Amino acid sequence: GAGKFFVGGNWKCNGTTESIKKLVEDLNSAQIEDDVDVVVAPPFLYISQVVGSLTDRIEVSAQNSWVGKGGAFTGEISADQLVDVGVKWVIQGHSERRHVIGESNSTVGKKSAYALSKGLGLIACVGELLEEREAGRTTDVVFEQLQAYADEISDWSKVVIAYEPVWAIGTGKVASPQQAQEVHSAIRSWLSDKISPEVSSATRIIYGGSVNGANSAELAKQEDIDGFLVGGASLKGPEFATICNAV
Ligand code: G3H
Repeated sequence: GAGKFFVGGNWKCNGTTESIKKLVEDLNSAQIEDDVDVVVAPPFLYISQVVGSLTDRIEVSAQNSWVGKGGAFTGEISADQLVDVGVKWVIQGHSERRHVIGESNSTVGKKSAYALSKGLGLIACVGELLEEREAGRTTDVVFEQLQAYADEISDWSKVVIAYEPVWAIGTGKVASPQQAQEVHSAIRSWLSDKISPEVSSATRIIYGGSVNGANSAELAKQEDIDGFLVGGASLKGPEFATICNAV
């Protein structure tokens, strides 16, 4: 493993003022161990509410940001604006942005580099589709996605890599600890070969895809699983706390 355990809660496009107030209260009163970094990613609309009410113990992430500075880009949010309201992290390259919204590897790389240049930490997502796995192309796809980040990023010190097999996201079909470990280990080797041994041993590689309170401890035991990116189960405060304490 590398560095401190890292657990992110990606709330996706869920919540209301009321439900988010309750979730923040639950997180504020949760017992979270010291040996874990915890980040939550609310929808943009509720980010200021969360920054203003959530314990400092947990940092706030955005789920996306624009490719450059602000201006005439209707509907977009710039990294500069995220920093302005107290956000510390951004998720880029999530499978839903790649496969539902249609973002390319190169767009994801550019957005990531801009966000890092503004001082945000980056949760850089990668992961294969079911048909890519079945065709034996898992590492090809993941390495191409990693290369697109590497083409734009020079400083990896604020990067966390999230491996999220698309077939495991929101499906209840979690990757087995062995399946996840296999890809995490391949990512670790790729970092060593293509970036540097130092970056390889320092970069946290977290797993996402149907992680819950019942399966997180077993996954956390794997050598190269350094944390989780949690979707559905991050909307329930007590269960999310259980996942944070999985290690
Ligand atoms: O970003 C989180 C992942 O997409 C996982 O979502 O835990 O609901 O499967 P999930």
